[in-house]
Formats: sequence, structure tokens, C-alpha cells
Amino acid sequence: MTLEEKLGQLQQLDGTAEGEYRPEHVELARRGRLGSTLNVRGARRTTELQRVAVEESRLRIPLLFAFDVIHGYRTVFPVPLAEAASWDVRLVERNAAIAAAEAASAGVRWTFAPMVDIARDPRWGRIVEGSGEDPLLGAEMARARVRGFQGPDYGLPGKVVACAKHWVAYGAAEGGRDYNTTDVSERTLREIYFPPFKAAVDAGVGTFMSAFNDLNGLPTSANPHTLTDVLRQEWKFDGIVVSDYTSVQELVAHGLAADGREAAALALRAGVDMEMVSRLFNEHGPALVSQGRIPMAAIDEAVRRVLRIKFRLGLFDNPYASEAEENETLLRAEHLAAARQAAARSVVLLKNQAGVLPLSRSLKSIAVIGPLADDAQSLLGSWSGDGRKEEVVTLLAGLRARNIAGLRIHYAKGCEVDGESRAGFDEAVRAAKKASFVILAVGESAAMSGEAASRSSLDLPGRQLELVQAVHATGKPYAVVLMNGRPLSINWLATNAPAILETWFGGTQAGHAIADVLFGDVNPGGKLPVTFPRSVGQVPLYYNHKPTGRPPEAGNKYTSKYLDVPWTPLYPFGYGLSYTEFTLSNLRLSAARVPPGGQVTARVDVQNTGRLPGDEVVQLYIRRAAVSVTRPVKELRGFERITLQPGEMRTVEFALGPEQLGFYDHAMKFVVEPGVVDIMAGSSSETTLSTRLEIVPDNQ
Ligand code: BGC
Repeated sequence: MTLEEKLGQLQQLDGTAEGEYRPEHVELARRGRLGSTLNVRGARRTTELQRVAVEESRLRIPLLFAFDVIHGYRTVFPVPLAEAASWDVRLVERNAAIAAAEAASAGVRWTFAPMVDIARDPRWGRIVEGSGEDPLLGAEMARARVRGFQGPDYGLPGKVVACAKHWVAYGAAEGGRDYNTTDVSERTLREIYFPPFKAAVDAGVGTFMSAFNDLNGLPTSANPHTLTDVLRQEWKFDGIVVSDYTSVQELVAHGLAADGREAAALALRAGVDMEMVSRLFNEHGPALVSQGRIPMAAIDEAVRRVLRIKFRLGLFDNPYASEAEENETLLRAEHLAAARQAAARSVVLLKNQAGVLPLSRSLKSIAVIGPLADDAQSLLGSWSGDGRKEEVVTLLAGLRARNIAGLRIHYAKGCEVDGESRAGFDEAVRAAKKASFVILAVGESAAMSGEAASRSSLDLPGRQLELVQAVHATGKPYAVVLMNGRPLSINWLATNAPAILETWFGGTQAGHAIADVLFGDVNPGGKLPVTFPRSVGQVPLYYNHKPTGRPPEAGNKYTSKYLDVPWTPLYPFGYGLSYTEFTLSNLRLSAARVPPGGQVTARVDVQNTGRLPGDEVVQLYIRRAAVSVTRPVKELRGFERITLQPGEMRTVEFALGPEQLGFYDHAMKFVVEPGVVDIMAGSSSETTLSTRLEIVPDNQ
């Protein structure tokens, strides 16, 4: 390969939002100056461009077509934060497998997912793309998605290579403002931000994306510590690192690189293999090599990594997609059924006063009110893949499609999500008055979360709360259906609304799924993957915080709290109700004492003590105190979602070994220190059961 051909393999360029390649791509592919594209999709278009690379270029190296297949390709699944709320790893793996099959049929063999950034700040709009605040839940979701996308081997038909992003700590953006600086201790990196990435590596993820943020003084796209020391040397990752969009170019704006040439040198030397969109590797590579600023061996290594992935994908043998297969694969009936099930299993029941839900099938009339009740675009969420809003079932459509005999449905939009006008209120109140039950769909539009969509308020935007209050004043019973991409400070609703369902953005089949839950065909069993604060001023507020020397105490001023808002969350991490009830009891250990290398089993009995079948997510937490460093007040160490019939009881087991009981000591060495471990179980992070384990030194 010539140096130009090598650098060509390191270049990824952007197609149009509609999925077309650009005229220039044809020329670059022919000359061997293009390794990969993003956004170009569809069997016809990818095959057209691929033919040029494979049949007309000197070395016949196939292109690798990448795309953000984050929560579905054409069949759109719930947003990742919603999927995390299902706490159902098998479901999440299956959804990723469906997304992979659809994407691969369209010629896309590389997805920029899973997004595994831990987010403790709901102002940051990209919280919607990840799995929330907890490293264990995040790691389990990361593993499930990598397995789903890649299968046992991403060279198999219908599989794509996954990309763990954004490496790393991107979610720690100061002030929750996207792309902002991060400053995170090595401990917090290793304990909070790294685990989902490590889980992705352990699951065999083929690629990583370096992020936009500055981390501790070195932007993550030029950070040798994270890109090389940790990723390559410690974790032995041998796949590709691609820059996030123009993050190589942005090294200049960060004030690190003097110019584009230096930006390319810094990124390449730190361990970025492929450059997305900006072209500095190609522009400056030859000069950098001839001046000895980049060794040819470094370029060769990056090229080797890119080619290795292309070989493993089988692109040299099967470079083309087939339109017939694409038509047969997209939106298959079982994909839609899976999307419906996923959306229903992602719903979190936040409140259900006096059992107003599920709705009775003998209702004569309902009013469906709110700006999100018939908003197809928002249901597609932040990364809609190739999803089409015409294919989305809105809540209104889902309710109508049930065709319940004798049920009249009155619809009124009421107001915009983020508008000032109350002009629609009268119509909404009239609709409510005509109905025996009201369903109010409020929240955020999809555009209010996701990339470059940070908010400084977590309140319901626009006039929506006033709309709810106007309906409330009619005295009609009602349920609030929330659609949103981040935790919201919904204090008034939490106090006053009879019922609240958190439905996030549920994807293509959301309307059917929410109707399934409202009418009780599906009993909600999701749990919050992130804390809901009472006020944005409490942020960051997360369950696994450190204790402080003066833990908050009512009536004692000089303790760690606020004057104007309680220190507690509105809804804690792991929280969610059901139409039935569960009782957890008898938390016990297989042994009361273990040596540091030992393992014990924690068991807890769970019984459905209500009258309907339902799902509970049993959660196990630990706390370590009086060890060589301070530890969080609680850390999730296991969870399982189970289904129980009324009266049924089951014992859930959790293994606790060195991985669960250890932590990083002062020297950042992972250790299992002797001492007492509090083991706690519950149906949220506000645990109800506890017991103790003692770790005893080997010689005792
Ligand atoms: C985002 C990435 C995404 C990339 C390509 C960037 O702006 O940060 O998450 O994969 O664009 O679309």
C-alpha cells in the first residue's frame, strides 16, 4: 500500500442525512482514499458505492458503512435510557440483534453503539442515549447490546460490529452543557465511568469512539492515558478507535494543538486510528511521516486494525447488500412485536393512587389530551435510525386501534410542548368534561434531549403543567403519561396527579405499548435507571454518593443539605411500582464470613402478594465502611427482573465474590479488604432488607 492508500483507510466521511453518498465519495473510493462512510445506507446505495471500491480501486479494499443504529434501524425501539429502565438484559440483547439484522440488510455493518456513558446530570441531553447513572446497570446493558449487535461473531450474516462510545467521561460535562470540559479523578473514572466500557471490551466489542471532551487537561481524542495505557495496554483492545466526528480538528479549539497538522499528530500518537469527517490525517499524514513526527509503524498499526475489522466482518468475501433481503428484513412482523413488547417493558409506574390504573374495559369515554398524545416524531427519540414517523403508532393511534366496543375517544392537543399559548386549554377542558377518564400525554419533545440538547431546567416545558392543572380542576380522574428523555422535576404531578406512567420515548410501537399498559394487558415492571431530583439545583444527585462527615439530618442545621429543598430525590434510582404488590423477605447469606478471595451467595425471597401477575426487579446493594478509603453509601451489585403469578414466591440469588466486594485502594490497586460488608436488598435503591457479611483475613 502507498502511504496515501494507507491514510485512505483511516478516513471516514459523512453521507447525507437521507443516506445518500456524495459525488466526491465515488472519486475517493476509486482512488483508494476512503476507508469508511457514515450515514450512507440502504442496500442499493451502499452496493453502488461499494462496487467502485471493490471493482475499480487498485487494491479492491471494501468500504465499511457505518451509521448510528442506536435504538433500532427501521424498526425503532425505545430510547436506550428507556431500555435500561426495563432492567431486562435479554430483551435489550434481542433488540440490538434485530437492529443489527435490519442494518446489515441495508449494507450498514458498523453501528456507533452502544453509547455507554454514565450520566449523573440530567441537564445533559445525552443522558437519553445511555443507561443512566449506575456502572453495574450500565455494564450489563453494554454487554447485552454488544452481544446483540455482534452475535458470537460479527462476521456472521445479519451482524454488525459495535462501537463503545464516547471514550470517556463525556457524561461528566461540567454544568451538564454538552461538549463541555470534564475533570474526573482516576478513582471516579475507574469506578464509575470505565465499567461499561470494560464490559463492552470483555464482550468483544470491535470498535471504540474517542469523545469530544477535555479530560483532566487532555482532550479524550488526544489522551494517551485513556486511549493507549488503559484501552490498549491494560485491556488489550485490538479494534479500531474512531474519532467522534470532528474531534481531531477540535483539538485546535480546545487550545491543545496549534494547528491541524499538530492535531493530527496528537490524535494519531495518542491512539486514534480513524478520523471521522475532518481530514487532517490525510492532509498532513505524508508530511508528518516524512518529518518523522509520526512513525510509519504507527500508521501501519492503525491500518492493520482497520483491515482486521474488515476481514473479520467478511467484507472481502461478501461486500454487497441485497435489496431483496433488505425488503424482506425491515419492519418484519416479529420486529414490530419485539418493539411493542420492549416499549411496554420499559414503562415505569411512578404513581397509582387508589389503583386508578389499569383502566376498566367498560369505560364509555376517555379524553386523550396533551401535545405528545399524537406526536409521532418524538416517539422516535433521539436517534431514529432510518425510522419513519409515518410508521409510528402514537398514543392516540394506539388507543384508537384497540377498538374497544362502545368506547368514545375525545382528543385535544391543549398546547405545544414548549409554547406560550393557552389557546387550546378550553377545548382540552371540554374534552375532559365529556369523558369519564383522561389520559394526559406531556413531557419533552424528542429534540429537547440528545446531542446538543442540554437544559438548565428539569421542569415540564411551556404551559404543560398549567394544562394538567386545568384538567385536574375538572375533577375527572386522570393519568399522566410522561414522554421524555431525562429525569424531570415533576413535583406538582407527584403530589397531585392520581397516576403517572413514565414512558420515555417508546419507538415505532409506543402507542400500542402504552395502551397495553394503561389497560393492564401488560403490568408495568420497569424501574428508574436514574434518580429523579426535586429541583435542578440538587444536581448532581445520584444514589451511590459518598457519605460526608455530616450526613443530612432533619432538625440539625449543620449537616449536608439545602435550606430550600429536601436533600432527598423525588424518585430514587431503581424505583418503580406495579399493579400488583411484592413482598421481599428473608435476605440471607450462604456464609456469614468469607476470606478475601471467597464467594458467598445472597438469597432473598420475593412473593407476589397482590392480585395480578407482575414483574419485580429485585436489587442487591452493598456498603463498605471502615476500610482504607471512603466508599459510597450504597452500590448496586446485582439485579434480576422476574415475573410472578399472584401468590407465587421465588428465591432470587446473587453471587458476591471479589469482583463485587472489592474496590480500589488509595494506591488505585483493586483489593478486597477485610471487614464488615452491609448487604441490602429491595425493590429500589431505598432498600428494605439488610444483613452483614464479614470478610476475614486468610490467616484467621
Ligand atoms: C456524536 C456521535 C455520533 C456521531 C456520528 C457525533 O456528533 O457525538 O455519538 O456517533 O456524531 O453521527
